[in-house]
Amino acid sequence: MEGAPAMSSREGEAGGLCRTAGHIVGDGPASAAPLAPENVQLRWLRMADAETRHLDRWFGLLAASEQVRAMRFRNRADRAAYVAAHALLRHMLSEALGGDPRAWVFVTGSFGKPALAASHLRPRPHFNISHTRDLVACAIASAPVGVDVEASNGEAPRAVAERFAPGERAMLAKAAGAEYRSIFFRLWTLKEAYLKATGEGLSGRLDSPAFQLDPLRATLWPSENDPAEPSNPDAWRFLEFLPCDGHRLALAVLRPDQAPLDVLAAAIDPADLG
Ligand SMILES: CC(C)(COP(=O)(O)OP(=O)(O)OC[C@H]1O[C@@H](n2cnc3c(N)ncnc32)[C@H](O)[C@@H]1OP(=O)(O)O)[C@@H](O)C(=O)NCCC(=O)NCCS
Repeated sequence: MEGAPAMSSREGEAGGLCRTAGHIVGDGPASAAPLAPENVQLRWLRMADAETRHLDRWFGLLAASEQVRAMRFRNRADRAAYVAAHALLRHMLSEALGGDPRAWVFVTGSFGKPALAASHLRPRPHFNISHTRDLVACAIASAPVGVDVEASNGEAPRAVAERFAPGERAMLAKAAGAEYRSIFFRLWTLKEAYLKATGEGLSGRLDSPAFQLDPLRATLWPSENDPAEPSNPDAWRFLEFLPCDGHRLALAVLRPDQAPLDVLAAAIDPADLG
């Protein structure tokens, strides 16, 4: 099945972005109105900006079970990123929909994807978080959404790339060094964002969607776990961001190709969280 979500690409500085490839229609504070179908809210937080006093406050926003999970991280940076990501999610849900950030209750699906508990209002928004030691991100939308952040200056594992689509492997085969890493992490974040949007996670296949880069295009193979209609190949939209040095962020959202998509994307100041 061919899936080629059209992308309007734009390069340049905008609202805290180091560089953007994708369709951005605005940035700044999220609206307090309920999420419109075309609206995706994306925020990221640089952990270098987070101080102990912020982390202490954010820890207090978490549910007891999240606090227990946080304390299980032996590495301080991992623990801090976990706390920040979960506080950011609670903050964004309350900012968009109202209510106390501490009141949100979550359940997990079959592959571990968290969702809002049935006790919350309907329609319940979709969301996804991602955390690395240096950067955390959260996206909320009225349709399935996935976000992935990765440190892109590390090792690009060749064993993983072997599971990519033939065209992607061919792209990588022609590249070396920094160029190889750049292509690998672009593909990897895009794939993970998609697998997190569908909820399959790493149990899903790595050869679909198959991506072409510059311009960004995706070819999607039918999958039983894919919530997109098999007859609607253009259902997924993909966007890429460079929120800070050495990190990539990819976003996948279920939204028909011809439908408008407004992505409100910005860094959040730690002082404004919680
Ligand atoms: C989801 C997954 C791709 C995350 O990869 P990662 O790069 O290590 O982590 P990220 O920081 O990008 O995202 C982690 C967050 O994604 C969310 N998440 C977890 N499972 C998810 C899934 N299946 N789909 C979408 N999001 C998921 C969680 O909020 C998680 O944060 P938390 O662990 O702090 O609660 C990977 O952990 C995975 O595939 N998990 C599924 C494992 C599985 O198949 N389990 C089946 C038995 S339950």
